[in-house]
Amino acid sequence: MSGAENILPANNNLNIAEGGLGLIFLIGFMGCGKTTLGRKLANRLGYPFMDLDHVLEEQAGMSIADYFSNFGEDAFRKLESEVLKQTVYPEHAVISTGGGLPCFFDNIDWINAHGKSVYIKLSSKTLADRLEHEKTKRPLLREKHGDTLIAFIDEKLAEREGFYNKATVVTDGLGLTAMKVEALLKL
Ligand code: S3P
Repeated sequence: MSGAENILPANNNLNIAEGGLGLIFLIGFMGCGKTTLGRKLANRLGYPFMDLDHVLEEQAGMSIADYFSNFGEDAFRKLESEVLKQTVYPEHAVISTGGGLPCFFDNIDWINAHGKSVYIKLSSKTLADRLEHEKTKRPLLREKHGDTLIAFIDEKLAEREGFYNKATVVTDGLGLTAMKVEALLKL
């Protein structure tokens, strides 16, 4: 390798030379598919994938469920916002966020100032069907089933949609593919 190549920054790659898409934050309610779709999109684009829930759990040294029960939701929201803003991101990445993250403090504005955001939109009924058996790791959903779960999601979505709808791209989550998200981001 020549000397000139040696002094290039470690994250210099073809995507930067081509412009690239920068930071892509996937947002939306629990169960909308941020992590699954995020991994596929990252794979497709050749970018690293990051899950901010996991970054938080690593920093806290405990699961989100344990953090909620030890310190409560307010402390969780503060830490979640710090993790969003203090994480060192690569030049390009696909990042999945916790379902509540865009809806606290100025987080959604910070996201849109530092990258693009994609809101994966699904109905309360579809979310409830997906979440019925996926609740153990999600402290907000414990003890909620059937109609109570749908009613809870309805209420939370009504509170949160104003924040989610600030996303750069708002798209229906049913049948959504990484190819479609890539196309929407490049419009
Ligand atoms: C939350 C969503 C969870 C996690 C925490 C709170 C929320 O993330 O951050 O349990 O308030 O909607 P996922 O959306 O990845 O499940």
